[in-house]
Amino acid sequence: MSEPATPSNRLPWRATVVTLFPELFPGPLAASLAGDALQQGLWALDTIAVRDFGLGRHKSVDDTPAGGGAGMVMRADVLGPALDAATATNPGAPRIYLTPRGEPLTQGLARELAAAPGAVLLAGRFEGIDQRIIEARQLREISIGDYVLSGGELAAMVLIDAVVRLLPGVVGAAASLTEESFEQGLLEYPHYTRPRDWEGLPIPEVLLSGDHKRIEAWRRAESERLTRERRPDLWAWKKKHEER
Ligand code: ADE
Repeated sequence: MSEPATPSNRLPWRATVVTLFPELFPGPLAASLAGDALQQGLWALDTIAVRDFGLGRHKSVDDTPAGGGAGMVMRADVLGPALDAATATNPGAPRIYLTPRGEPLTQGLARELAAAPGAVLLAGRFEGIDQRIIEARQLREISIGDYVLSGGELAAMVLIDAVVRLLPGVVGAAASLTEESFEQGLLEYPHYTRPRDWEGLPIPEVLLSGDHKRIEAWRRAESERLTRERRPDLWAWKKKHEER
């Protein structure tokens, strides 16, 4: 009997990216935490090249928009077979289309995706994709923020990174996950390390006191202050949910 690849005795979480630019992957996901975990088999990554499913002599993947207008639209009859190939290598994984008009990627959504067997991620280019593929292949539309990237590949990498660090065994100390930004509905408190004085700036006295109760209270107060100042939306949401 061989050892299971993951602590939970399941297959590793698998990302299958459907893209015109497979050479962009793993890119930054090969480094650091995600890269080490990839090497260890805690998650898996593969790409499906949309161009392989292109039509005709020119392997065409897009066409002009019905109704006219600027730009090009990726064809449903190209994306359909590409997505089906992705699902064949990653069965049971939700199919996601990265788009600025999707639901926002949050820590909560990252947790939800980490609990799935993996994800099939469609990275678009050009003006967009034919609406019929979204409906016919039940694509969940997800945005990484209110700005427009030139393609979905960077957004797919952001999503993968946010999910992978939540997988069992990827981040060493569980505490470093539960204390970080958003996990408690608060932004993270400030950190300090040696030297004790740097350019005339001291480490806050309380952190050197050894009094763990006081330290915890200070960190909590700083988290709350930062959240109130910088993210009144998060703060209001948290207050509302605490009332119930
Ligand atoms: N593709 C282009 N912009 C994007 C965004 N903000 N989020 C997800 N996918 C995108």
